[in-house]
Amino acid sequence: MKTKLDAVNKKNILCIGAGYVGGPTMAMIAAKCPDYRVTVVDINPQRIAAWNSDDLPIYEPGLDELVRTVRGKNLFFSTDIEGGIRDSDIIFVSVNTPTKTFGAGAGMAADLQYWEKTARQILENSVSNKIVIEKSTLPVKTALAMERILNSQPNGISFDVLSNPEFLAEGSAIRDLENPDRILIGSRETKRGRSARNTIVEIYARWIPRDRIITTNIWSSELSKLVSNAFLAQRISSINAISALCEKTEADVTEVARAVGMDSRIGAKFLNASVGFGGSCFKKDILNLVYLCRFYGLEEVADYWESVVNINAYQQERFIMNMMTAMFNTLAGKRICIFGFAFKADTGDTRESPAIFIAKRLLEEHAEVVISDPKALDNARIDLSGLAGVLDYREDPYEAAAGCHALAVMTEWGIYRTLDYERIYREMVKPAFIFDGRNILDHAACFRIGFNVYPIGKPPLTHFDS
Ligand code: NAD
Ligand code: UGA
Repeated sequence: MKTKLDAVNKKNILCIGAGYVGGPTMAMIAAKCPDYRVTVVDINPQRIAAWNSDDLPIYEPGLDELVRTVRGKNLFFSTDIEGGIRDSDIIFVSVNTPTKTFGAGAGMAADLQYWEKTARQILENSVSNKIVIEKSTLPVKTALAMERILNSQPNGISFDVLSNPEFLAEGSAIRDLENPDRILIGSRETKRGRSARNTIVEIYARWIPRDRIITTNIWSSELSKLVSNAFLAQRISSINAISALCEKTEADVTEVARAVGMDSRIGAKFLNASVGFGGSCFKKDILNLVYLCRFYGLEEVADYWESVVNINAYQQERFIMNMMTAMFNTLAGKRICIFGFAFKADTGDTRESPAIFIAKRLLEEHAEVVISDPKALDNARIDLSGLAGVLDYREDPYEAAAGCHALAVMTEWGIYRTLDYERIYREMVKPAFIFDGRNILDHAACFRIGFNVYPIGKPPLTHFDS
């Protein structure tokens, strides 16, 4: 439905998919472009209702404030997908593109059914020319399929398909959107393609310096997104692989990462050894890359990238085996407290969180599991529902740890650094253990309190005779 505001609105932007990307990204565009009307639609009515309420469907620092400043002014959330398509000039598509779970490519390839459904919906409901932008992460060459579907009817409407992948990280999404390292916009290298691309460049140029807005051909843009995630994840698997070697040799992975990262050619970021990377994208996007390489017959290239995912699985299983060995080769009947269930700090998102794997493995070993997290307990309950065994959820970390044999730190939430570990120690079963899957605690201080401390990639600090 058009309003009076449309008279002054330069263009109508629609975003299909009101998730972790669609919601925050469109809120930022609406805030920076008050003369554009921005509508975000989704097939999930609960999600849209939450976006229209005071209790947004995702937790992200700074998001509430941002949404509050623009919602109802030039940012709208709606379930009217057809109307949204009809009224729009520019459509961002940011639906989910999970790993396929069935048929050819199951477990590896991207499941493009939501994507294709969107393309057909755009075709059916369009009455004017549109720029359609891939915001979701997609296999290289997907834009070709989009173009073929959109141009399958001679209806006089023209569609220009662009790729504008999103690089925000959860927990820092608002900061990343406000001040991104780069914006990437890919198009066909035709007059029309370049003109559509310029329209999108002008939107971002409202707040992002032009030298950080890069334009490429459409296939480079699609592939660059997969490759960026693959490189980031590769760094984590590289340092995690080295953490295993550190544990055998009394080297300290933090010291090694620091020494290596000070080489300006390598750089210091993304070298924190951990229990493994999680999140909805790294694993899915690398598997997608691996599938593409195999599709094109590049077996060695596929194997190379697949090893990044394999090391991540190895690191998680290694964490469990280290717990088992340290706790006298049995976890059965022991109560283990998991500090943090989100896949990283400052988000409630638990998709592919290493904590899911660790909790399941602990239950398989017949341990009792207590989960604590400041924002992710609702998701944790969903992720672990139906599992056999003793599971407890406590937001208060002190309550969660009381009566436990061990603490396992899974998420680098700031609060875990500042807890009163003397108090926690007093309430735990002795000997008490800490397994720090994020290397965020003061290990020496915890050891002095009485804990047996097992960091990642560092010699353990124990009170046992060797
Ligand atoms: P999400 O699951 O949070 O949101 C996707 C939304 O799309 C859901 O709300 C779903 O209901 C909706 N949807 C699915 N099919 C639809 C349809 N036909 N019509 C309308 N709505 C539909 O996913 P997300 O985390 O926002 O990720 C979206 C895409 O962005 C993925 O391709 C992902 O790889 C990519 N990405 C994600 C992040 C991130 O941090 N989460 C960062 C960069 C890129
Ligand atoms: C990642 C990328 O950083 C974004 O650029 C990208 O847009 C996004 O994926 C996506 O495509 O979805 P995100 O998964 O939200 O963002 O978060 P990251 O900060 O990359 O962390 C991913 C995982 O790696 C987390 O589990 C984190 O704890 C872990 N990690 C990160 C480490 O174990 N060590 C590190 O040094 C850094």
